[in-house]
Amino acid sequence: MQQAVFGIIGVGGIAQSQHLPNLTRAPHVRLKTVCDLNPERLQRAQAQYQVPEATTDYRALLADAEIQAVVVATREDQQAPLAIAALDAGKHVYVEKPLADTPQQVEQVVAAQRRSGTFAAVGFNRRMAPAYGKARALVDAHGGARNLHYRISDEYWDWGRNLPPRTRVIHEVCHIFDLVRWFTHSDPVSIYCVESRPDDEVFVLAMASGCVASITNSGYVTMDLPKERVEIVSELGAVTVEEFVEVRTYGYADAEPVYRFAGHSHPDRDSTHKYLLAQGGADALHALRRMGWEARERWRQVKDDPTPLDRAELEHFVAHRSPHWNYMVDKGWLHAVDHFAQCVLSGEEPQVAGATDGLWAARMSAAAMESRASGQVVRF
Ligand SMILES: NC(=O)c1ccc[n+]([C@@H]2O[C@H](COP(=O)([O-])OP(=O)(O)OC[C@H]3O[C@@H](n4cnc5c(N)ncnc54)[C@H](O)[C@@H]3O)[C@@H](O)[C@H]2O)c1
Repeated sequence: MQQAVFGIIGVGGIAQSQHLPNLTRAPHVRLKTVCDLNPERLQRAQAQYQVPEATTDYRALLADAEIQAVVVATREDQQAPLAIAALDAGKHVYVEKPLADTPQQVEQVVAAQRRSGTFAAVGFNRRMAPAYGKARALVDAHGGARNLHYRISDEYWDWGRNLPPRTRVIHEVCHIFDLVRWFTHSDPVSIYCVESRPDDEVFVLAMASGCVASITNSGYVTMDLPKERVEIVSELGAVTVEEFVEVRTYGYADAEPVYRFAGHSHPDRDSTHKYLLAQGGADALHALRRMGWEARERWRQVKDDPTPLDRAELEHFVAHRSPHWNYMVDKGWLHAVDHFAQCVLSGEEPQVAGATDGLWAARMSAAAMESRASGQVVRF
């Protein structure tokens, strides 16, 4: 099989959980080079995924004429300049979201992409989640979206504590802004945002298609609550998607009432969740999630003052066996990167989000912040 030659800049959290395993097993990708400023992390990634070359200097990676495409997964302050450097070096680029903190910075990436004529994809991977593809096709076949509600909520108070307050809209809700455009085939006309406390807010969007959308975003829940749910009302009838695994239809005589999507496997995880989903649906996965949360809470309670048995058992459970770590829903990461590689090989325009979609998401985040501050509806 023909394979596009890839390099990756940044082998931190998302690279280790998704990009490295996916670039290694995607059928249309050959991962040639890893790059990171942190030499230990770099060495570990190179050894674990048996990548032929490693460098701490992104310029060396970009100078390699054999490399056709580059994944950029650093941090938002680095992603735009690195994507621009890669585009200017004639590479195709798959850059993590958000492209940058401001629309002005993202505009520079859009300009670089136009200059280079190569592809620039943005890591709005949810577009490629199989459950969302199914939901979108169902809604389209039933008159299109008229009313959409999305909830995204998680333990941002924990994992996002080093990020400035009130910026979850840039880092996390950008995914959902992109999805609302994608589900409705439409751009926003206006946005309104109101918060109850920093990073706990509701957005109301009017779309050019006539659809109205609301997004509930909270960084204050715990992981026993499934992170994401979308409900889409179409011309007649509705579709819901629970945590990427269960699509339910209402009022569609020509569709199944439930479609299930088992998620994907990962080298570090087993596939318990797939069997549970097949047996018990989304409820079984919710129970699994709760067990993972309870185990971790219990570990937090006993970790400083455990009986030796508790400590050993729980550390092992949390590190290796916690069902939560097996709970690997398919948010489209692997499909997105393999599809991108196929487009690199064929020259066909990728169906994943591009730089202009990244710009829309940045504009929507900026407008939402403006609305939040002023209390007024902001028009695009
Ligand atoms: N699409 C998703 O679902 C998803 C999920 C998580 C994170 N992300 C995004 O991915 C990006 C990375 O997040 P993360 O959690 O992996 O960050 P991280 O801090 O864990 O990793 C970033 C890595 O990039 C390296 N780096 C930074 N500047 C560099 C440079 N100039 N050259 C080479 N290496 C450099 C750092 O040393 C670090 O190892 C962020 O934009 C984040 O928002 C996306």
